[in-house]
Formats: sequence, C-alpha cells, structure tokens
Amino acid sequence: MSDWKNNIDLKRLPRHIAIIMDGNGRWAKQQGHLRIFGHENGVKSVREVAEGCAELGVEYVTLYAFSTENWNRPKDEVDALMSLLVTTLKGELETLNKNNIRLRAIGNIDSLPEKCAEELKDTMKKTEQNTRLNMVLALSYSSYWEITEAVKKIATDVKNNNIKVDEIMPETITANLNTAGFPNPELMIRTSGEHRLSNYLLWQMAYAEFYFTDILWPDFRKKDLANAIIDFQNRERRFGKTSEQIAAEQTQ
Ligand code: FPP
Repeated sequence: MSDWKNNIDLKRLPRHIAIIMDGNGRWAKQQGHLRIFGHENGVKSVREVAEGCAELGVEYVTLYAFSTENWNRPKDEVDALMSLLVTTLKGELETLNKNNIRLRAIGNIDSLPEKCAEELKDTMKKTEQNTRLNMVLALSYSSYWEITEAVKKIATDVKNNNIKVDEIMPETITANLNTAGFPNPELMIRTSGEHRLSNYLLWQMAYAEFYFTDILWPDFRKKDLANAIIDFQNRERRFGKTSEQIAAEQTQ
C-alpha cells in the first residue's frame, strides 16, 4: 500500500520542525479572492501538518502564524487573522485533545487582542496534559523581540546578584528564551519560494537545515511534509566537523 510516509526513516526524524507558512495572500489572489481567503484555507494545511507530525512521532512543530512585523498590515487583515485564530482555536480543541496534541505559544502574547489572548491561554491550559506532539504557535513573535526580552531578564538577574557577568553562557540565553526547554529545530520549512528567515528563531536555528519549496501554504499537504523530511534525511549534518569524522562516529 502506498502511504505518504513510506519513504521516511522513522528512526531519524527531526525532533522539532519549524515552519514559515508563506503564500496565503498570493494563493487567494490567484483564485480572485481576498487575502483572508488564503489564510482561511491555510488552516487546513496547519491541520495536515499537525496530523502528519503526530502520526510520525515528531515531538515539536512551531508555526510562524503572526510576526511582530505583521502588525503593520492593513487593519482589516490583522482583525480577520485574529478572529480566525479565535474561531480555529475554539473549533480545534476537541481534535487537539483527541490526538493528544499540546498547544503552546511563543511571542508577545500580551500584545494580542484580549479575546485572542484569552482563547489561546484557555486552549493551552485545556491541552497541557497532552504528550504526543507540541504544536507551538509563534504569535506576535520575532527573534529581535525575544532576544531583547532575554537580555533584559539576564541583566535584571545580574543586577539582583542572581548571576555574575562571567557566568553568562550560551545556555543562559537559551534558558531565557520563550522556547526554554524545547529542543532546537533541526529542520525549517518555508513555503512560497521565498528564501528568507524573517526574524524567526534566529538563535534556535543556528544548526537547522533549511528546506524551501515553491508550494503556496494553502496547498501544503502531508506528502509535502514528507518530501521535506526525506530531503533533510539525505543531508550530512556536520556541526563544524569533517565528513571523515562524521563517518567514523557513525561506525562506532
Ligand atoms: C503568510 O502568508 C501567512 C501569514 C502571515 C499568516 C498565517 C496564518 C494562517 C495559516 C492561519 C491561522 C493559523 C492558525 C495556526 C490558526 P502571506 O499573507 O504573507 O502571503 P503572501 O506572501 O502571498 O502575501
């Protein structure tokens, strides 16, 4: 039987996949619709990816749903995205629990409209016991914001004598990011043919493999997720070492 996940090596899965869901506006325009129609159809792809990651055994998937810079979009579009988020969260709660998926969020959640922040917190609370997949929404998120907040927290710790300047390590920064406790993303997927990071998980993706596809987000399906994972599994990840060192480690 041919299955979308047939060619994936389940023993070498990325533990964490980060996704930039791009191309909703263009997809809608191609069909002669308003941009929000693209976002609405993008929810279907979110569902496919969550289901796919859960089926495979990926532990974390982080979706760039709204960036700090997205606040600069026309008010109508921002409002429509926020209400789409509320209706989606309400509508998906049962499915999240049925599939043992925990919803989490990173970003400046307090900057979201009150209704949106409340719905988000409520869904996170009602799914916090789930253990199969962590579905992380990046909302009002940017790495510049996140790293600035981390620097402020560490500076405060120094001021309060909780830590000395010389004791600050890369791990100190990692522990003060919104993603504290998450494994770093090993694979980053961006749809719609754009080859940029757009202020996304810059610290966490220092060693991530990048996968770019021309597919627009509302067309992204499980087989496309599989193609990205297969591509990832065909790469040699060296972390600064030589090919020979990596080969020797694999035969040990
Ligand atoms: C980028 O496409 C997409 C966004 C800024 C929003 C993504 C939101 C969703 C998929 C729906 C809500 C998600 C959840 C988790 C409920 P774009 O608008 O930049 O497209 P364009 O580059 O073609 O203009």
